[in-house]
Amino acid sequence: MNLINKMLAAQAAVLALWAVNVQAATNDEIAARIKPVGEVCVQGQECKGIEPVAAAAGGGAKTPDSIIAGHCGACHTAGVLGAPKIGDSADWKKRASEQGGLDGLLAKAISGVNAMPPKGTCADCSDDELKATIKKMSGL
Ligand code: HEC
Repeated sequence: MNLINKMLAAQAAVLALWAVNVQAATNDEIAARIKPVGEVCVQGQECKGIEPVAAAAGGGAKTPDSIIAGHCGACHTAGVLGAPKIGDSADWKKRASEQGGLDGLLAKAISGVNAMPPKGTCADCSDDELKATIKKMSGL
């Protein structure tokens, strides 16, 4: 066997081993992926992984941060569908002056406007909670 053939043979062996490993990893991954579905989340018992969602969806006190994390941020973080971005004070200021200040923005957030859903999808947010959240997002 010349040198090139030896190298090719070695590589083939490595590839074969690698393929076996990949298969094993894939089986493990599949097992890991299907495990949690049947394993956890029985009502009344601890369920790892869904607590943050439950908290954001209304368990416990709502804060501007939890409301943003659970609702508004989905659109307002990246400016989806033309939503004013969190911290883009120029955009928020312009909107505030068009609507007559923070209370005007609050009224629009409650009723919804164009692609902005009523209450920004936080149906159980109070007006005060929405107002505090708008303040936080806009910096107004
Ligand atoms: C599904 C995406 C989406 C979600 C979720 C969302 N918004 Fe918006 N929001 C928008 C869009 C799009 C606009 C811009 C609407 C326009 O001017 O056409 C907007 C605009 C606004 C405005 C300005 C309204 C105006 O008159 O200029 C406020 C205030 C606002 N959102 C508050 C919130 C709050 C508070 C939340 C969370 C409780 C929230 N939004 C969640 C999409 C969203």
